[in-house]
Amino acid sequence: MPRLSIWFIRSALTYLVLGFTLGALLLFNKGFPFYPFLWGLLPSHVEFVLFGWTVQLVMGMAFWILPRFSKSPFRGNEKLAWGTFILINVGIWLHVLGTIGSGSQWLVLTGRVAEALGIVVFAVYLWPRIKGVGAP
Ligand code: HEM
Repeated sequence: MPRLSIWFIRSALTYLVLGFTLGALLLFNKGFPFYPFLWGLLPSHVEFVLFGWTVQLVMGMAFWILPRFSKSPFRGNEKLAWGTFILINVGIWLHVLGTIGSGSQWLVLTGRVAEALGIVVFAVYLWPRIKGVGAP
């Protein structure tokens, strides 16, 4: 497995643990209210399970498994895919910081822009690797 896939998938697993733990706390707090502040962490739960877990797991697998080129570098311009990894993770934490406590709409917006940019960069990076059997 390539190094970037390892980073994507280990990071995804970390967010899985964080996201499910927050989800469990939110659920418990719904049945037995013990800490009202927890509701403020609902956006973080959604961020962790959707962008942190799901999106990064898919990206890590896609980077590893989709068709490669016949000439080196076999996976194309890997710097673009590393850029996506950084943008997605920075985006997640900017969004989380922007929604905790009094929060900041600007942090939320910047986080979303970073995530959107990361997705566009990944699509541009991966596009040439979507090809038929036997293509160079
Ligand atoms: C990949 C898995 C998951 C995804 C994609 C997911 C996604 C979401 C989303 C989008 C919401 C917001 C719903 C809304 O605002 O109407 C939400 C809320 C919530 N999630 Fe999750 N979630 C996942 C796993 C879990 C798990 C494992 C738990 C508990 C153990 C959990 C507990 C909750 C709770 C308690 C809420 C608040 C529900 C409410 O508004 O009453 N989630 N989740």
